[in-house]
Amino acid sequence: MSPPGPTPTAEPDTPRKLEALELFDGLPRRYDELSAALSFWQDPRWRRALVDEVAPRPGQRILDVATGTGMVAAELLRRADCSVVGIDQSEPMLARARARFAGRAESQVRLVRGEAEALPFEEASFDALTFTYLLRYVEDPAATVAELARVVRPGGRVASLEFGVPPLAPARLAWRFYTAVGLPSLGRLASPEWARVGSFLGPSIRGFYERHPVAELVGYWRGAGLRDVRVRRMSLGGGIVMSATREG
Ligand SMILES: C[S@@+](CC[C@H](N)C(=O)[O-])C[C@H]1O[C@@H](n2cnc3c(N)ncnc32)[C@H](O)[C@@H]1O
Repeated sequence: MSPPGPTPTAEPDTPRKLEALELFDGLPRRYDELSAALSFWQDPRWRRALVDEVAPRPGQRILDVATGTGMVAAELLRRADCSVVGIDQSEPMLARARARFAGRAESQVRLVRGEAEALPFEEASFDALTFTYLLRYVEDPAATVAELARVVRPGGRVASLEFGVPPLAPARLAWRFYTAVGLPSLGRLASPEWARVGSFLGPSIRGFYERHPVAELVGYWRGAGLRDVRVRRMSLGGGIVMSATREG
């Protein structure tokens, strides 16, 4: 596995990027359990749905962007004898992923520190690509989606997972209450770092879709050369799995 070490920052350190780097510094230790619990144990199911969309096959080379502690990478490897490269800009999150995959051969899983906005990979060098909870943290989601699509071969699958705001009024009301009151309180119970996440998530998700409604996101995917874009809303819209195929 790639050793930790300074990676040249491809993107200028914008406030959004610095906030993301800082936010994930203190989360890795309990990330897997708490991220599941705070989503009412929905997000493991969403991650599985994301991997369904890619349907990994033996021998494929798959890139997992914003791999974090490596949960999606692990699910990809569980499904098929494929090879996974996980990339993330946060060294503490990657350290947790390294511990998860300790003992695995580098030919099976390789972890790289780097940024989604400027991937250190050749064009069309992956058979498929996944990314999870990434676009809220980048300055220019359309440009980032284009950069992700660049490294996927024609015909390759791309799938993403992001939180969503439920479209129907009763569910949206419950979501608003949960993100405004429930999440911050639960976060405070866990730790100061998770208290910050609890208060950050609701406004971050809402703000993201105000700036980039789902229909516009679909446009970014199409503009990046991804066809047959599919949007699957799960858990009343609390999770959104998107998928598409790289044009050939
Ligand atoms: C909420 S975590 C998701 C981790 C994991 N994919 C999962 O399924 O739980 C978001 C991850 O995105 C990473 N991230 C945010 N912006 C990034 C960027 N521009 N390039 C690479 N990684 C980024 C963070 O460091 C963090 O590990």
